[in-house]
Amino acid sequence: MNGTTPSPSQTDPLFDPSLISPSVAAALPEAYTIRPLQRGDHAAGFLDVLRVLTTVGEVSADAFEARFDEMRQNGKGAVGSHVLVILDGEGRIVGTGALLVERKFIHNLGLVGHIEDIAVAKDQQGKKLGLRIIQALDYLAEHVGCYKTILDCSEANEGFYVKCGFKRAGLEMAHYY
Ligand code: ACO
Repeated sequence: MNGTTPSPSQTDPLFDPSLISPSVAAALPEAYTIRPLQRGDHAAGFLDVLRVLTTVGEVSADAFEARFDEMRQNGKGAVGSHVLVILDGEGRIVGTGALLVERKFIHNLGLVGHIEDIAVAKDQQGKKLGLRIIQALDYLAEHVGCYKTILDCSEANEGFYVKCGFKRAGLEMAHYY
């Protein structure tokens, strides 16, 4: 040991891969895989998948890696950003979703999961990949000790989340800056 930090590798995962549900992995279509986001995933089409959800902007590989490193550093342990991806048999990212784990004072220092940024590539929708992403995030939330998971969505997506086991609870308010 010389005390220096090892240089980051493109296969560094954002979070512990043991938090990926084995039964979700087994239920994917043949040759598809699921894993934590990796540092090199700019090249695997990660941002292109997010473009089906909203505006992403022009984010260079360097800028992507810098954000990844920040998220990885802040997410040490159970708490933080857990972004996972599904890949097809050719190694292209075709779906993604995130679980943010929030530390609370209430509910005996409870943890709350927030599901964010669910997206499945247009040509891959309808194959249950969205469902698998939510099931994997639910597994993750339970395994890191969340007492509930919440999300915001449009009316148009309510039916999808109901099929994933969620129910309408409350009302979203927003203040944009
Ligand atoms: N409304 C009602 N039911 C739906 C919808 C919908 N919008 N979308 C899918 N379903 C149903 C399917 O028919 C299927 O039902 P079945 O089990 O009876 O066959 C079930 O939900 C599971 O569908 P999947 O095949 O897993 O859905 P898919 O892989 O196409 O992913 C998703 C759904 C993620 C909404 C996808 O269409 C997508 O990426 N849309 C664009 C981005 C988006 O809107 N993301 C969600 C934003 S909200 C958030 O991020 C918290």
